[in-house]
Amino acid sequence: MSGEGRARMMRLGAHYHPTGHHVASWLHPKAQIDAGSNAEHYLDMARTAERGRFDLVFLADSSATRGGDLEALSRWPQYMAYFEPLTLLSAMSAVTERVGLVATASTSFNEPYNIARLFGSLDHLSHGRAGWNVVTSSNQTASLNFSREAHYSHAERYERAREFVQVVLGLWDSWDDDAFVRDRASRRYFLPHKLHRLDHRGKYYAVRGPLNMARPPQGHPVIFQAGSSETGRELAAETAEVVFIQEQSIDKARAFYADVKGRLAKHGRAPGDLKVMPGFATFVGRTEAEAREQHAFLQSLIHPDVGRALLSAELGGTDLSDLPIDRPLPIERIPVNTNASQTTVRNVLDVVQRENPTIRQLYERFSGARGSALVIGTAAQVADAMEEWFRKEAADGFIVQPSYLPGGLDDFVEHVIPELQRRGLFRREYEGRTLRENLGLARPASRYRAAG
Ligand SMILES: Cc1cc2nc3c(=O)[nH]c(=O)nc-3n(C[C@H](O)[C@H](O)[C@H](O)COP(=O)(O)O)c2cc1C
Repeated sequence: MSGEGRARMMRLGAHYHPTGHHVASWLHPKAQIDAGSNAEHYLDMARTAERGRFDLVFLADSSATRGGDLEALSRWPQYMAYFEPLTLLSAMSAVTERVGLVATASTSFNEPYNIARLFGSLDHLSHGRAGWNVVTSSNQTASLNFSREAHYSHAERYERAREFVQVVLGLWDSWDDDAFVRDRASRRYFLPHKLHRLDHRGKYYAVRGPLNMARPPQGHPVIFQAGSSETGRELAAETAEVVFIQEQSIDKARAFYADVKGRLAKHGRAPGDLKVMPGFATFVGRTEAEAREQHAFLQSLIHPDVGRALLSAELGGTDLSDLPIDRPLPIERIPVNTNASQTTVRNVLDVVQRENPTIRQLYERFSGARGSALVIGTAAQVADAMEEWFRKEAADGFIVQPSYLPGGLDDFVEHVIPELQRRGLFRREYEGRTLRENLGLARPASRYRAAG
């Protein structure tokens, strides 16, 4: 039974890469090949997610194209040319009513005042359905687009992120919910004592405020986070309401779940205040054989150069061009002290230490949804795996990562959702109008109201 007195239900997000999560997804005949510049494709998928009663749709982002071997990248469109996510979510908000709208924005390459305005506006536009995925950006080349020669160190960028988030939360509290009286009779539009200046002066930011926007409908758009290094977990325990993770094994996911929930109390938070949603890549078929065929088909389309480039990206841009792909990856080539994504490198290292696969086997393993769990089977088999993670407290829900789009999402909504509903694990109707209400998260009081 959850804190809200309702039976504990799964939370589901749909994670959209343009043509899907698999590196070869664009080659699938049913994939929307021009997805990166096709708005209708995304608007349709937003409607599909709402029809499936998903809590949210999620758009990942990076402030740069991928780096590395251009020959290989020319065969792998992911993160090369696509929509800026908030612009796209604003369009999605006009064609949907209940599904949450979540996008990534980096704390390393933005200013808090702008981020507060952008997500606050999306929350007003969507009547309370916005969510911000706070990342510090692991893409090392992004900083070259922002007048820097090198990225911030892992430690510094998380320290900056911590202050950044606090400033944004403070700006969202600039106006009390009832500040605007709009009274023509007294010619008073707002009550001056209900407007608050932030006057923040910190190590990295000085932000006076107030925000030039009424308090968002949700109070604060929902805070998501996706880092699971030690610093990432601490930031999540302090500020995140939903944390995305990449774990291939239920045991590792259970360990993360217990670890991050165990950190909440010291921040005065309860276990229900943070939802853990692992990435879940799926291939759904009418039979298991059919699903395995779909998977094998996409695997067969991986160009070796793309596979190598994928692995190089997972390893923070490590050059693997000199290594034969049918030989194991020498462990000394794995940059354990990376300044890129510590979780992603750790996931590769775990597989290498456990199985010593060839480079080809390794990139085939990460070709679907990188370090996330992969489930291939019938709707009942996919639901079985999700139910097991859910019941064994490895997850409060999942960020579903369809391998190709829109087909993979359509299959999930048509076959897996009804199975989860039949088992009483997932909603048949939305509980509320806002993302918070559907996620079972409280609406935060303003820090000024709390301070009286
Ligand atoms: C489901 C999911 C979505 C993510 N989305 C993004 C994204 O949109 N942009 C980004 O730069 N990183 C994204 N990340 C990566 C994380 O931000 C982070 O770099 C990574 O988890 C490593 O963090 P760590 O160094 O703290 O381990 C995502 C990770 C997960 C699990």
